[in-house]
Amino acid sequence: MVQASRPMVLGNLPRSVLGEGPIWLPESNTLYWVDILGDRVHSYRLIDGHVGTINIGPYPSCVMPNEDGNLVVTVKDRVLLVNPHNGSVLRVLATVNEPPSNRFNDCKCDPEGRLVAGTMDMNEKNPTGSVYVVDPGFGLRKIMGSVTISNGIAWSQDGSSMYYIDSPTRRVTVLRYNRREGVVEGVIKHIDLSSYPGVPDGMTIDTEGYLWIALYGGGKVLRVNPVDGEVTGQVEVPAQYTTSCTFGGSSLTTLFITTATDRSRQTTGPDGYVFSVEAGVRGTMVSKCRF
Ligand code: BGC
Ligand code: CA
Repeated sequence: MVQASRPMVLGNLPRSVLGEGPIWLPESNTLYWVDILGDRVHSYRLIDGHVGTINIGPYPSCVMPNEDGNLVVTVKDRVLLVNPHNGSVLRVLATVNEPPSNRFNDCKCDPEGRLVAGTMDMNEKNPTGSVYVVDPGFGLRKIMGSVTISNGIAWSQDGSSMYYIDSPTRRVTVLRYNRREGVVEGVIKHIDLSSYPGVPDGMTIDTEGYLWIALYGGGKVLRVNPVDGEVTGQVEVPAQYTTSCTFGGSSLTTLFITTATDRSRQTTGPDGYVFSVEAGVRGTMVSKCRF
């Protein structure tokens, strides 16, 4: 059992309507995250507390680093390359053809630098979403279909397994991932989390190979062994809509957790802020996209 401390609210940072998708960039000591319903990408430089905000939309759902220092941002139906300093769009990397009620949601770069990004039904009902791969040559491929709310994505250290969450299923699916080709080759198993409150949302993986999974509506993050599905730890967050998490800080042992408000913006609690907690274990860094 990994012992995590109590999460602390980073109340000096911007509050999001739907805070999501945190990533840590060690070279600039900076945390990035998105506010999907606030049309913003935020950043927080840990060494001096500098906060940056890029206005971009509609629905900026995920931000990933590119190898040349720019950002890859998914918006409603497009994948954009964005200058992190002034927010200008440098290039439209891909456009998907989806129903108007769909939008992009969570994404990650795979260990070979491709972008893997899923879509969702904004009504959160129909399995009209898909998962796409954008290859470094900008080719767009659909690798999965029939998902309702495409969410957390992570890979095992060797890249042979992809962990994937379609939130309403309330489970994590372990997929065989062909890293050389960037394709999914079958389901290894499902890890059922339906006995926990809320639905699984975003996730990250630590250096011991355990998944840290935010439960949207459950106000917590679970640490799960993907080999046997055992839950080996949990972080209780004083905000109900925990959306995603990532490791950061100088030793990669701080877990940053994004949260959402209940969307009525009526809440008086710390919902919508970023939280941080000492996780007691070292995390992995996100792979960068090679565009
Ligand atoms: C989506 C939300 C959704 C939540 C729970 C998030 O990733 O952006 O719209 O309500 O997951 O499924
Ligand atoms: Ca999410």
